[in-house]
Amino acid sequence: MAFKERVFSGVQPTGNLHLGNYLGAITKFVALQDTYDCIYCVVDLHAITVWQDPPELKRTIREVTAAFIACGIDPKKQIIFNQSQVAEHAELAWVFNCVARLGWLNRMTQFKEKAGKDRENVSVGLYAYPNLMAADILVYRATHVPVGEDQKQHLELARDIAQKFNVDFAASIASNGYGDAFFPQPEPIIQGPATRVMSLRDGSKKMSKSEPSDYSRINLTDDADTIAQKVRKAKTDPEALPSEEEGLKPRPEADNLVGIYAALNNTTKAAVLSEFGGAQFSTFKMALVDLSVAKLGPIGSEMKKLVQDPVYIDSILADGSARASAIAGETMKAVKDIVGFVRRS
Ligand code: TRP
Repeated sequence: MAFKERVFSGVQPTGNLHLGNYLGAITKFVALQDTYDCIYCVVDLHAITVWQDPPELKRTIREVTAAFIACGIDPKKQIIFNQSQVAEHAELAWVFNCVARLGWLNRMTQFKEKAGKDRENVSVGLYAYPNLMAADILVYRATHVPVGEDQKQHLELARDIAQKFNVDFAASIASNGYGDAFFPQPEPIIQGPATRVMSLRDGSKKMSKSEPSDYSRINLTDDADTIAQKVRKAKTDPEALPSEEEGLKPRPEADNLVGIYAALNNTTKAAVLSEFGGAQFSTFKMALVDLSVAKLGPIGSEMKKLVQDPVYIDSILADGSARASAIAGETMKAVKDIVGFVRRS
């Protein structure tokens, strides 16, 4: 069966958004809206799998929404909303809790990393997190999911859940008129240079909101001076830039900065090196400062403007939620029929 092509992705409202979120996720979201119908979700239900301060959670939900808009996602043409406003996410996640196997979840590397040695003490939600993520995608029967490398395993799990649901309920799916498969197999979209943006202080670590040093990342709300300062202080090595990509391999910090330049400038690392090969970092960093400020400065100021108008932001989320609910509600009705629940008609 052919499914209508649809893009879904989610961003957690936790901590500040930084360059890694921007290059790794949001710019891709923006590009996809030319070709697909897109649903972009602020995944607040996922956020509370670890403790969130309530007023801070509200603030970050609005901030991520502002970032989506400031980066150029059109909230009229696409759907922007927060997960908790569409109850079907949690509802389908419960059904998926009963489809997914314990053994599948036990293999999730992100859970192992996040839980660490404190396994007995983390929330049940953190463990079931990938099932909710599968529900996010499949409640819209989305076919394409732009995600970072680190989410590939979760997406494979979503495919396994879709597959097992389709097989377990095959007879009921057919008798309810949904053909031979109810859920599509959602595909990851992973592309472009600098999908993984690394810390400016340590080229072997991912840029992260939880890293104590603010100099390790560029936040989307940093002003021009702060951006410039952080780029100037970014860790490098004493060598000049190589002319070939090969030369970046043993130099993680150089590789990262070249990757960032390439991604911000919509080009390849090879192209950047053909321009800057042989140059000293002092020269390259000046160019990177100019480029970063030119690209990120306007986004930061637009975000700041938007978050000062929570009434507007909330109206975007309400409108997006209503449109998302219409789709999710239809899926959930069908799922209830397929599973064998009796529902109010
Ligand atoms: N787990 C994703 C992350 O941390 C966020 C997410 C939640 C998501 N639901 C999703 C991403 C559905 C893609 C599709 O990055």
